Amino acid sequence: MAKLLYVEVSPRKERSHSIKVANAFLEAYASAHPDDTIDRLDLWSVDLPAFDGPMLDAKYSIMHGQEPSAAEKAAWQTVEGLFERFASADKYVFSIPMWNFGIPYRLKHYIDVITQPGLAWSFSPETGYAGMVSGKVAAIYSSAGVYHEGSGAEAFDGQKPGFEGWLGFIGITDVTRIVVAPTLATPEEVAAAQAQASNEARDVARTF
Ligand SMILES: Cc1cc2nc3c(=O)[nH]c(=O)nc-3n(C[C@H](O)[C@H](O)[C@H](O)COP(=O)(O)O)c2cc1C
Repeated sequence: MAKLLYVEVSPRKERSHSIKVANAFLEAYASAHPDDTIDRLDLWSVDLPAFDGPMLDAKYSIMHGQEPSAAEKAAWQTVEGLFERFASADKYVFSIPMWNFGIPYRLKHYIDVITQPGLAWSFSPETGYAGMVSGKVAAIYSSAGVYHEGSGAEAFDGQKPGFEGWLGFIGITDVTRIVVAPTLATPEEVAAAQAQASNEARDVARTF
């Protein structure tokens, strides 16, 4: 029995294109894998701690093997709890809108909280950096415009390469991309993009 973690990044809910495609994926996944569990993580409902000065003090005292204060320990437990929820999954689905050519700040905040040395990655002078997370990812991306190869706008895409670079850093290289775009076009073009991405999502989900 596998565990799939679904990370939802759009705050637009019923109006969201990426969530619609993710729902198509999850429905197909649930019927093809009835014994698996699906954990839904809405990044706009979860309490993400500020990653500020005191949190960094906690991080560096732990990293340097010093004894953290009681407050630092408590702050770090929140980080560990969020990381454990993330790392306990075998498979991941992310639905991610493009915001200003990159990922929404809420996802960046989540990444900053859970990407910790000794949890998500390790370093040794002999062997360098190593990711400590395993699993596979279906990444569902939405954007108003199109940024695929040959579109002339690839260079502006800081959403997919940046996100997948982070996945690689923590150890996840098995990534399937599903793109729903354009979401700002004629109603026919938007409906076609939505239908194509939802079909693709269902296909991927059945054997994921
Ligand atoms: C704050 C903000 C910034 C955006 N920036 C871009 C952008 O740089 N490029 C783009 O193609 N679309 C941009 N969009 C449009 C969204 O990517 C598009 O509406 C997408 O469908 C949003 O995903 P969702 O429908 O799942 O919420 C932006 C939307 C918002 C709200």
